[in-house]
Amino acid sequence: MDYKKIIANMTLEEKALELSQVAAADIIQDADAVVTGISHSGVPREQLGEIGSVLNFSGIEAAKKIRSAPFVKKDNPLLLMQDVVHGYKTVYPLNIAIGGTFDLELAEACAEMSAIEAKANGVNVTFAPMVDLVRDARWGRVNESTGEDPYLNGLMGRASVRGYHKGGIACCVKHFAAYGAAESGRDYNTTDISDHALKEYYLKSYLECLKENPEMVMTSFNLLNGIPMNGHTELLVDLLRGQEKFDGVVISDYGGISEMIAHGYAEDLKECARIAANNEIDIDMCSLAYAKYLPELVREGKVSEEKVNRMVERVLRLKDKLGLYENASAGISEERDKTYCLSREAREIARRAAEDGSVLLENNGILPLKKDANVCLIGPYAESRELMGEWACLGKTENVVSVKKGIEKLTGKSVPSVAACSAQWNAADESGLAEALRVAEKSEIIIVCMGEYCKESGESHSRSNIELAALQVKLLHKLKETGKKIVLVLFAGRPLALTEVVPLVDAVLFCWHPGIEGGNAVANLLYGTVNPNGKITMSFPRSVGQCPVYYNCFSTGRPKHNDTYENACFTSRYIDELNAPLYPFGYGLSYTKFELKDMRLSVSTMRRGESVTVSATLKNIGNRAGREVVQLYIRDKFGSCARPVKELKGFCKIALAAGEQTQVRFKISEETLAYFTASGEYKAETGDFEVMLGTNSRDVLKTDLRLLDREL
Ligand code: GLC
Repeated sequence: MDYKKIIANMTLEEKALELSQVAAADIIQDADAVVTGISHSGVPREQLGEIGSVLNFSGIEAAKKIRSAPFVKKDNPLLLMQDVVHGYKTVYPLNIAIGGTFDLELAEACAEMSAIEAKANGVNVTFAPMVDLVRDARWGRVNESTGEDPYLNGLMGRASVRGYHKGGIACCVKHFAAYGAAESGRDYNTTDISDHALKEYYLKSYLECLKENPEMVMTSFNLLNGIPMNGHTELLVDLLRGQEKFDGVVISDYGGISEMIAHGYAEDLKECARIAANNEIDIDMCSLAYAKYLPELVREGKVSEEKVNRMVERVLRLKDKLGLYENASAGISEERDKTYCLSREAREIARRAAEDGSVLLENNGILPLKKDANVCLIGPYAESRELMGEWACLGKTENVVSVKKGIEKLTGKSVPSVAACSAQWNAADESGLAEALRVAEKSEIIIVCMGEYCKESGESHSRSNIELAALQVKLLHKLKETGKKIVLVLFAGRPLALTEVVPLVDAVLFCWHPGIEGGNAVANLLYGTVNPNGKITMSFPRSVGQCPVYYNCFSTGRPKHNDTYENACFTSRYIDELNAPLYPFGYGLSYTKFELKDMRLSVSTMRRGESVTVSATLKNIGNRAGREVVQLYIRDKFGSCARPVKELKGFCKIALAAGEQTQVRFKISEETLAYFTASGEYKAETGDFEVMLGTNSRDVLKTDLRLLDREL
């Protein structure tokens, strides 16, 4: 395709509109209405045919209506984009749960199945994967990420990119950059991060994803070191386009370009357009800054036409790559929609991801339950089908399997259940508690299903309190007074502070928002059809006062060596709280027991250019088969920059029968030890390292490794 020739025949107005994205709903309304003048989208009606892309529409009929709109031009097919973040019609668990499976193939499969469904419904590009590093459970969008480790986030993000590509759609790495570092965990809030922390922690996952050639990168809303991301030349041009040679499409987040006014960085929309265009943000999502001002800016010489042509070419290339010029509706298929959406295969993958992403936090032996146990279900999630969480795309609650349904299907008998109260954080209606207690009295084991209401995490849903809602805690205390055994099943889009509730119960299963197969997964886990194997990828704070709390932190100059409530004056501590989270990164229990022992290094001293192998024996010393995630952590004990007390550098998920054992091995090379040193170079520095192996980030075996320069 001769892009240069096409572009040479486009007017400046047509180029500006090619770089503009509007809501699909506007186009649909405009398609129906006989409007003159300014359309619903804010674009003059006679220019609507020049719009380059739309976002967020619902399904095949909408896609067809958009593509057949009277003003849409064959030689300018629209890009149809959508947030297919953890599923389309089949909704998988939240990404924070998928990350906890530590299963890259499963993550890829979830993305692939999502893409197949989305493509059949007309989606060309998904705004995913989200790979923001997150460390603060107060932030609502932790549910979209895979957690607090840059290494895991990068690998999970790459797996998703591969999956979306296999499923036939383009994808978009977001939110560039460091959106997850919002101060006080408050969404859209300021981020202020040193260059070192940016390079060493916050940028890694985005750049890692570029290795899989995603078609797009989305800029984030936040101010970063005094500059709104849409104005961040150093990151957008010097790093992304320059150093990383990313020549895909950069798209702003929704209205983000115009928000430079509210940031106090641009005086008006025209200035916003100038700044964004000079940072080569190719598509303006829904602020119309380009549509209104880009032609004028070019004519005034404030934005070069050569740059605009480059931006337009990237968008045309993406359309061409997706085959839209041949047949814009090629991917749309009722037949594939019927074959793949909500298919048995898709549901099976969704159920596996929900099972393997849920985390057994506590168990005094009450689990797994026997099918003939006399149980009841109490709590707002006992019968609820609101298990999909945020960004559920076209998922419908009517297709979700509730816990009640899942357990009744598995046990073959009806289970008494009472919602008792609503899940909202400020719920106050106690009228359902009495009925709950009456039903509880007749059972031996109470399965309490509660947690965070599904709309209380996600975009613009940060919280200052991350405990269970007061009414739910009150219900739990009353159920405890019955003297019955209690299994607590929790649903949430963020880590919760569970310090008060854990002592009240006999087991805790944390399921995040598990998606369309949630009820079946919970049933399989509670009754042992599946042995829990998920891990948390965000630390669970004891209290919100600890936020942000994360495992790969620094020692400080006054580390608190023994984390107790005893007086540890003049150390880095709280007088009223421990330092450690309630549950650490990488933690999760099983119904069997695993023993990790006999850790050894092939050699304890390595020279530059060499590598060593660390190995250990993992044994299933319990009485049932299970899967365990062995994690490799490394500490660089002394560096030209202070280094974290440990960093994840490898993991493997291993299935073992009862009594079976195996050798786990990890290779450690110079690359494994490299980081952005004080000089800015990315390299390993000679000296002493601590090598750790564990089944979580807290309980680890350790050995020492020394790196020397090459033999002289
Ligand atoms: C939202 C989100 C972004 C999403 C976009 C389009 O504001 O920040 O993640 O992709 O708008 O829906």
